[in-house]
Amino acid sequence: MKITVLMENTKGIGREAFPCVCEHGLSLYIEWGDRSLLSDAGASEAFLNNAGHLGVDLSRVEAVFLSHGHYDHGGGLEAFAHRYPDIPIFMQASALGHFCRLQEGRERYIGLSEQTAGLPSLRLLDGTFRLDSEVSVFVREEESQEERGTEDRGLLVRDQGGLRPDAFYHEQYLVLEEGAKKVLISGCAHNGIATIMKEFRRRFGCDPDAVISGFHLRSKNGYNESKRQLIRSMAAELAKYESCYYTGHCTDETAIEIMGEVLGERLQPFRCADVLLI
Ligand SMILES: [Fe+2]
Ligand SMILES: [Fe+2]
Repeated sequence: MKITVLMENTKGIGREAFPCVCEHGLSLYIEWGDRSLLSDAGASEAFLNNAGHLGVDLSRVEAVFLSHGHYDHGGGLEAFAHRYPDIPIFMQASALGHFCRLQEGRERYIGLSEQTAGLPSLRLLDGTFRLDSEVSVFVREEESQEERGTEDRGLLVRDQGGLRPDAFYHEQYLVLEEGAKKVLISGCAHNGIATIMKEFRRRFGCDPDAVISGFHLRSKNGYNESKRQLIRSMAAELAKYESCYYTGHCTDETAIEIMGEVLGERLQPFRCADVLLI
C-alpha cells in the first residue's frame, strides 16, 4: 500500500524541491492494487495542486472519506466536489455540526463550510459503515472516551442545547484491508488514539499493521514533566499493540520525540509530500 501525503502542516525532509503549498491541514492519497481513495481534503483547495506536483491523478479516486467535521480536514471538499462531481464523499452526518473553539474568550468556528452540506456527491453516514471487503469505517462507542489528547477540552459544538464539549461522535476511523494487512487511518484521533486502538482490536480481533494519524498532541507553552509523563504513558499504551505508527499534522515535534523514546522506530513522522510504503 502506498500513501502520499497531499497536505500536512510542513514539508518533508528531502521533499523541499516539490513546489507544494503547506497549510494546517491533512489529506492522504492511498493506493493499493488497482484501487485508490482519498482520506481528508486539507483546509483549502491547495491539496489539489499538490496532487498535481506529486504526480497523483485524483480522477482515479473511488471515494473520499472525511475523518471528522473540522475545517482543516474538510476545507477542500467543495473544490474537490466541483472538479470531480461523480466521486462520492463519505462522512458522518454529524460532521456537518457547528464546531468551534474558544480563543481568547471568543468563539471561533472550526467546522465545515455551509456549502459542503449541499454537495450532491455527499454520502452521509450514521455510524459504522462497510463499503466492501477492503474498505470500512467505524466510530467511537459510547462511554469509551477515557483517554484523550492534551488539548481537547477547548473543542466545542453548538447545538439546540447550547455550547458544550464536543464528544466527537462525528469522528470516523478508516480501515483498509489488503489481504491480511490492515491499515487504520484516524485523522486527528480526537477521541484518543489508545481508545481507538482498543476499539479496533475489539471489532477486528487483531491489531492494525500500521496506524496513520495525528495524535492531537501540541503545546504552545512547551512540555513540563507531567505533560511529558502523560505522553510517555500514552506511547507505552500504544507499544502494547503489534502496530507501527505514522504521525504528523497535530502531533508536534516535541511530542513525536517524547513518544519516540518509548516507541523507537515503530513511530515515524510524516510530512507534506512524503510517500509511505506500508
Ligand atoms: Fe480536528
Ligand atoms: Fe486536524
